[in-house]
Amino acid sequence: MTRKLFVTTALPYANANFHIGHIMEYTQADVWVRYQRMQGQQVHFVCADDAHGAPIMIAAEKAGITPQQFVANIAAGRKAYLDGFHIAFDNWHSTDGPENHELSKEVYKALRRNELIEVKTIEQFFDPEKSMFLPDRFIKGECPKCGAKDQYGDSCESCGAVYTPTELKNPFSVLTGATPVMKSSEHYFFKLSDPRCVEFLEQWTQTPGRLQSEVLNKIKEWFTKDEEGKGGLGDWDISRDAPYFGIEIPDAPGKYFYVWLDAPIGYLASLKNYFGKTGQDFDAFMADESVEQVHFIGKDITYFHTLFWPAMLHFSGRKTPNHVFVHGFLTVNNGEKMSKSRGTGLDPLKYLNLGMNAEWLRYYISAKLNSRVEDIDFNPDDFVARVNSDLVGKYVNIASRAAGFLAKRFDGRLSADLGVEGRALLDGLRAHSATIAQLYEEREFGKALRETMMLADRVNEFVDQNKPWELAKQEGQDAVLHDVCSVCIEAFRLLTIYLKPVLPALAAKVEQFLRIEPLQFADSARALGAHQIGAYEHLMQRVDPKLLEALFEAPAAAAPAKALPGGEALAEEIKIDDFTKVDLRIAKIVKAEHVDGSDKLLRLSLDVGEGRLRNVFSGIKSAYKPEDLEGKLTVMVANLAPRKMKFGISEGMVLAASHADEKANPGIFVLEPFPGAQPGMRVR
Ligand code: MSP
Ligand code: ZN
Repeated sequence: MTRKLFVTTALPYANANFHIGHIMEYTQADVWVRYQRMQGQQVHFVCADDAHGAPIMIAAEKAGITPQQFVANIAAGRKAYLDGFHIAFDNWHSTDGPENHELSKEVYKALRRNELIEVKTIEQFFDPEKSMFLPDRFIKGECPKCGAKDQYGDSCESCGAVYTPTELKNPFSVLTGATPVMKSSEHYFFKLSDPRCVEFLEQWTQTPGRLQSEVLNKIKEWFTKDEEGKGGLGDWDISRDAPYFGIEIPDAPGKYFYVWLDAPIGYLASLKNYFGKTGQDFDAFMADESVEQVHFIGKDITYFHTLFWPAMLHFSGRKTPNHVFVHGFLTVNNGEKMSKSRGTGLDPLKYLNLGMNAEWLRYYISAKLNSRVEDIDFNPDDFVARVNSDLVGKYVNIASRAAGFLAKRFDGRLSADLGVEGRALLDGLRAHSATIAQLYEEREFGKALRETMMLADRVNEFVDQNKPWELAKQEGQDAVLHDVCSVCIEAFRLLTIYLKPVLPALAAKVEQFLRIEPLQFADSARALGAHQIGAYEHLMQRVDPKLLEALFEAPAAAAPAKALPGGEALAEEIKIDDFTKVDLRIAKIVKAEHVDGSDKLLRLSLDVGEGRLRNVFSGIKSAYKPEDLEGKLTVMVANLAPRKMKFGISEGMVLAASHADEKANPGIFVLEPFPGAQPGMRVR
């Protein structure tokens, strides 16, 4: 029976390009999907951009474009990564697509019909300047526990305390700096605490074989109430107030679905969109009991996928996922944590642009993956070693050792006999086919590859014992040489089958070289016989360790870009996020004075609306008299780390224009805002 599989990976937030963590997740899912296809299974493998939510709305606003345009820009960048790393999704869609708007509303209405939606009034922080309710991450203040400044509304990065935004001392809105006020609003809740939901989820999560045991253990904790009856499944707040980039809730003007409600529905929407394009029946497929729905996700979003998502599906009368496969996180260079939005260390696009082979990375990641929720680490030395000694040294070499003799001495035709020893070796290789298949099925890719490399070792031992290079020089050994080399090619074909889910492009080259149809898993049971192969071309390079140095090298500062009229090259391109890190403020120069012992500096006392003055040293003495500056407004970098100088501490920097070659082209011009600007205003 052909299996029908509907496979997804988590939908990436459309606020940034892919980082290496995404590539790891997609590689895991892609290898599994390719394996299933090699077994003749029918697979639909889809993904989409997760377009909605406050952060994307705000990022778009800062960039001065609509959220739709913002998300479209990110979407346009996806293909380079997916093609580059051979991630073969059948479809890429967006949660802002019409299918998702429609499906999300349908799911919601069904939940409402089932009396699982409740409206409650809640109090929340509201930014009076921006007229919007503030998500926790957009409120900052002093930690209620340790007093650390500038902490987010949900937790303290200094002492680790977790709290609600209302507990922060001196809270302020990250968006405007305004002091937030408490305001009440009606929110829509999915009643997960309803006994029907609790009962369903206990049964669903504990169905044997559905979830990994570690995941189930974690879920059991979430179900458990403490002695005070706290904890357990709480009702889930699924609405957000306008302004919000999302899907409007039916019959609730100004209310939007919280992004996590419509995001997983995006899995269905992408499939529906794909079926629409290919003329397949979405409703029939989704109603088909034999379809297996499989989600690959990272450990951080387990709660959403194993509680909210199955409950949403079940209580809207839909089939629930058959599996949620959870993986750990990829770290780079020993646990250096990757930031969700930035990623660190290993930029996948830079990897490709350096001309590094995508399949090296697919191989390396797969070799480290197992079916558990374990973090894995990318280590450059380990990467070089595994690719060069295993992949190239053990596997690719087998073909190159035999192909030359076959071409030169036997016109590229294989021997059908292969000899007793050779046949035994190949039978041994074939005997592992079922085990390796099962390991792929179970997502034990590391084990599958180790098993395959162990087989490659056997083939290389066979070559070392039979020494084709010596046979080639001996009289009357032609038949033996022919057998030995043919065994190598047949072994190479078998190993290629076992590696093909991980190395699809390499396998395609091998198929061309061997002049065979695309390899399926069942082809391991066959033999090539007296088959004519093509000319061998080099299949894969070794990794040059210098490439890894280049990969991890920080981008060169101010690359020699376009020369400007001023003669100074333009600095490297930055993202809006880079820019917003720099907090520029309007500052009033309250006092300006000479600094004893310095012929360059003036000491400025600046008012940036903080109720105190900042002390800033500025190298503008050659251009300005102190009395000409006093009372004027200018622009300063207000979040620069204070710097200790010979004359005291400087608490920021005043902006001024000058030529790069100040000596030849003197002149310093302090910036002054148009009339109306007030001290403390942010410059953006
Ligand atoms: N948009 C949500 C998912 C919605 S699914 C209906 C989201 N997006 S994400 O871009 O932050 O993450 C997408 C996937 O990448 C998640 O499965 C996440 O766990 C995974 N990873 C993010 N960082 C990762 C690593 N460092 N390593 C491996 N996977 C990681 O969450
Ligand atoms: Zn703290």
